[in-house]
Amino acid sequence: MKTQVAIVGAGPAGLLLGQLLFRQGIESVIVEARTRDYAEHRVRAGVLEHGTVGLLEEAGVAERLKREGLVHRGFELTFDGRRHRIDLEGLTGHAITIYGQQEVVKDLIAARMESGAPMVFEARDVRAEGFQGDAPSVRFSTSSAGEVKLQCDFIAGCDGFHGVCRGSIPPGALATHERTYPFAWLGILAQARPSREELVYARHEAGFALFSMRSRELTRLYLQVPPDERVEAWPDARIWEELNRRLAADDGWQPEQGDILERSVTPMRSFVAEPMRCGRLFLAGDAAHIVPPTGAKGLNLAAADVWVLSRALARHYAEGTDDLLDAYSDTCLKRVWRAEHFSWWMTTLLHRFPEGDSFRDRLQRAQLEYLASSKAAATTLAENYVGLPLPGR
Ligand code: FAD
Ligand code: DHB
Repeated sequence: MKTQVAIVGAGPAGLLLGQLLFRQGIESVIVEARTRDYAEHRVRAGVLEHGTVGLLEEAGVAERLKREGLVHRGFELTFDGRRHRIDLEGLTGHAITIYGQQEVVKDLIAARMESGAPMVFEARDVRAEGFQGDAPSVRFSTSSAGEVKLQCDFIAGCDGFHGVCRGSIPPGALATHERTYPFAWLGILAQARPSREELVYARHEAGFALFSMRSRELTRLYLQVPPDERVEAWPDARIWEELNRRLAADDGWQPEQGDILERSVTPMRSFVAEPMRCGRLFLAGDAAHIVPPTGAKGLNLAAADVWVLSRALARHYAEGTDDLLDAYSDTCLKRVWRAEHFSWWMTTLLHRFPEGDSFRDRLQRAQLEYLASSKAAATTLAENYVGLPLPGR
């Protein structure tokens, strides 16, 4: 089996790359370890930057997003019993769109199926090989085709944080930088009308809480919990009680309750591997970097990476020039490190740290007061949140 670009992983990064390449006449094969059903139903991100929406439009997969996505022009910070609105649009001229990651994935898989471009689900023993020389390949097996060797010009490692591509790069060729945090998020999806128009990020003595949504009927909520927390420790009544407590302010508002359809605990981590390339293997998305979810940057960074990669590959095939491929890692890492800083900053601003550090506590409140009173401070938050311009757009 032969193709131009072998893409490992059918998450948002791999699928969007496949679609952007298809639109430019570049062949690819997407190799995914899980089932289609799994890929389409994993509940994760929800906030799309305006630039990400633009990329999905360019990829021709934004029709349902434009119809069903919820455009948000601001969000609220809640602290010390008060709410303060960050006017994203007023401060930056841009809004964000709420549209579930699994909906983005469904739309991209549907487009891939329609295009007839090849995609393999349930691939076993996936290996990226030969990328330090001129003959890279991806090997895997499936129950129908047996052992497959997919020969290619380039490999795109879009297989997430726990994938195989990053690990197949020889030790010494990558530097890694990492932070772990002493807490995790318990996330729930509830069959409940979102009873507030915009997202609410709350700093509370008992820990961080976030009110978000997926549609007019579905609320998405998160609670800071200890890092190794078991979901079983959180029966429904405890979840709602804690959300009501942490999201409360002087206006008496509480989120509407409903059946909990999904719940999971996500650890918090910052991680960057650099460079994002080894020979003919290019890492993109969570395979190369992780941010804690507080700034809503992970999916958006994955989209930005594959935009940069698709342009670089297009130049290679159209003009035989590798300048953009050679610049890929540096171009991406500039944006990645900005987002790493922003996500770390939002996380340390809003979470309760277990050591009971009164100095940190006062710093958090001073910074929140500053955000609520200074247009310059609020603008810095807003321009990072809506997303900085994409390189070359
Ligand atoms: P993934 O989505 O992890 O996809 C990788 C794919 O590769 C998967 O389908 C996996 O099955 C496959 N794979 C793995 N190993 C192999 C293998 N060996 N062979 C073949 N395939 C393999 N980001 C935001 O921008 N905004 C948000 O609001 C936001 N909220 C979040 C909330 C939560 C609770 C979580 C957990 C994350 C959130 N994120 C958010 C982050 C976002 O979900 C990720 O950054 C995003 O999924 C990255 O996409 P990806 O395609 O790089 O990786
Ligand atoms: C959502 C997730 C985030 O990490 C965030 O910062 C805002 C919203 C969400 O899933 O809706």
